[in-house]
Amino acid sequence: ASDHRESLLIVTNWAAKFFRDHLWNTEDGKAIGLSYFRERGYRDDILRKFELGYSPEAWEALYGAAVKEGFSEAFLEETGLIVSREDGKRYDRFRGRVLFPIHNLTGRVLGFGGRTLKTDKKVPKYVNSPESLIYHKSDVLYGLFFAKKAITEQDNCFLVEGYADVLSMHQVGVENVVASSGTSLTSGQIRLISRYTKNVTILYDGDAAGIKASLRGMDMLLEEGLNVKVLLFPDGDDPDSFAMKHGASYFKQYIAENSKDFIFYKTDILLSDAGQDPVKRAAVIHDVVESISLIPDDIKASVFIRECSRLLDIEERLLLAELNKLKMRAA
Ligand code: UTP
Ligand code: MN
Ligand code: MN
Ligand code: MN
Ligand code: MN
Repeated sequence: ASDHRESLLIVTNWAAKFFRDHLWNTEDGKAIGLSYFRERGYRDDILRKFELGYSPEAWEALYGAAVKEGFSEAFLEETGLIVSREDGKRYDRFRGRVLFPIHNLTGRVLGFGGRTLKTDKKVPKYVNSPESLIYHKSDVLYGLFFAKKAITEQDNCFLVEGYADVLSMHQVGVENVVASSGTSLTSGQIRLISRYTKNVTILYDGDAAGIKASLRGMDMLLEEGLNVKVLLFPDGDDPDSFAMKHGASYFKQYIAENSKDFIFYKTDILLSDAGQDPVKRAAVIHDVVESISLIPDDIKASVFIRECSRLLDIEERLLLAELNKLKMRAA
């Protein structure tokens, strides 16, 4: 790593310690931040493992401490920890938020996600560190540092949307989990996963946005040659809320019994929208074959075509013809 990168990493890692100390050792940190995490049901060992923190409700808390520590304002600004206004006034980006440090593969902190404690819908729920020399959002998966060993051991990776989902799954003992952190999955993130496993189970939120993101994420994973399963939580739950509601054993049982191969998942979702309308059902078939056509391995694709033929009660040869047409078009 270059000297410049190293300097920025020193700043972000110092800041992580500042926020962590604030959470555990100050009156407002304990009364506000720690209470918030505990009310959500997180155990202290999880808060410590993920090095969570709290940023005081003040304009220059970190800024003042960092300058006193001797850090240059340029570095503080470059890492996004302080924001510079047009009139030259500088202030803390994270104020009155609980903080999730984002780690690289060796456990060093690259940036932060900060959650508001307010329920006011006008306040953005999360404020995140901006892109910088050390933090490229599209090449980072939240939680990978804490998950990589379990991903290799289980030969499977659970993919969730958010920070809280990662924490809760660790708390119920499922450690092979990473979050795409709200952005749509990128090919950089997929390549990171495929260093450890070729098997991904998508556990996105059980809302309209989650379903849409899961269908898009699924196609990207298939395209990169990964095996994809999907599981949807009921009633708008996400992995965090579901785990907190039901506890470890039911959570594990639920994911074991309800993870579906992508083809069943996509067919189910689309067919339930199409109802009995034959034109819409034909479009579903087309759509499902389109996903299959993304799979680089022809043998695997043909297995899914056979599956699809049984599932939709369509002659295999028609599906194969459609598959070949799509592949010709893509080539
Ligand atoms: P969600 O809205 O599902 O939040 O966004 P969440 O993770 O369930 O958070 P809690 O449980 O309410 O605390 C999923 C992820 O999208 C990103 C965050 O990474 C979040 O964890 N996100 C969401 C943002 O970056 N900014 C936002 O304003 C909202
Ligand atoms: Mn969501
Ligand atoms: Mn969520
Ligand atoms: Mn949530
Ligand atoms: Mn089409």
